[in-house]
Amino acid sequence: MPEGKIPAPLLDAAAEARRVVVLTGAGISAESGVPTFRDAQTGLWARYDPQQLATPEAFERDPGLVWAWYRWRRELTARVEPNAAHHALTRWQRRRPGLCVVTQNVDGLHQRAGTEGVVELHGSLSRTLCSAERCMVEDWAEPDDGAPRCPCCGAYLRPGVVWFGESLPEQAVAAALQAVGSAELVLSVGTSSLVQPAASLPGEALRRGVPVVEINPAETPLSPEASWSIRGAAAEVLPMLVDSLNLG
Ligand code: OAD
Repeated sequence: MPEGKIPAPLLDAAAEARRVVVLTGAGISAESGVPTFRDAQTGLWARYDPQQLATPEAFERDPGLVWAWYRWRRELTARVEPNAAHHALTRWQRRRPGLCVVTQNVDGLHQRAGTEGVVELHGSLSRTLCSAERCMVEDWAEPDDGAPRCPCCGAYLRPGVVWFGESLPEQAVAAALQAVGSAELVLSVGTSSLVQPAASLPGEALRRGVPVVEINPAETPLSPEASWSIRGAAAEVLPMLVDSLNLG
């Protein structure tokens, strides 16, 4: 994408903003090799049924299957590296500590790139919870087959992620709303803007007259509303944007 494709007024707004919120989705990790969910050929939901893998009912029906699927994703994300988009956000935050990343991703790649204070709306693959008590469990053994059991109460352990039909962690939602409520600029990067409540966050900013930038190779429901909608891969556009800012 030629440099001129980032509009000058956007560069001005981004250079001036002290409080920036960057809402990210699966697309920001695509170039690290983590599949998205809804891309037609390569998305996880094109190959797997979320109702069989990412709901409390699915876990109740077949904890071993659900555990194995998340184990595969955990191992996959452990093998990949943060990409130029994750690193660009870290560079931007180091110059503008008021920048807050709010992510729907559970892959931990923002943190591994060095971004601080990441708000995880959908939990994290790196956490494991007791399915009965919901407490975090640090020490557990991976069984050859099936889901592991809680060392305290014997219930199955589950991944510390949010499944369809479950509420988001209250603290994360509150932190995201607070950040968006005081933001001067909001970016929506690599998300299909279809899953609530994350999808409504940019709208909150627009209602306050705060500019919203979308970075995505494809059109989404947010595109017509966004102040700027940049068609491109996050790992290409974000470094270009951040490197063009004269961040004093
Ligand atoms: P989706 O798979 O719904 O959307 C990924 C978006 O990334 C699409 O709009 C793509 O066009 C875009 N994309 C693909 N490659 C990209 C790239 N290189 N750079 C930038 N964008 C790119 O993923 P999410 O919006 O994150 O929830 O999905 C939201 C939630 O739905 C997920 O957290 C997950 C899923 O079901 C749960 O599992 C609860």
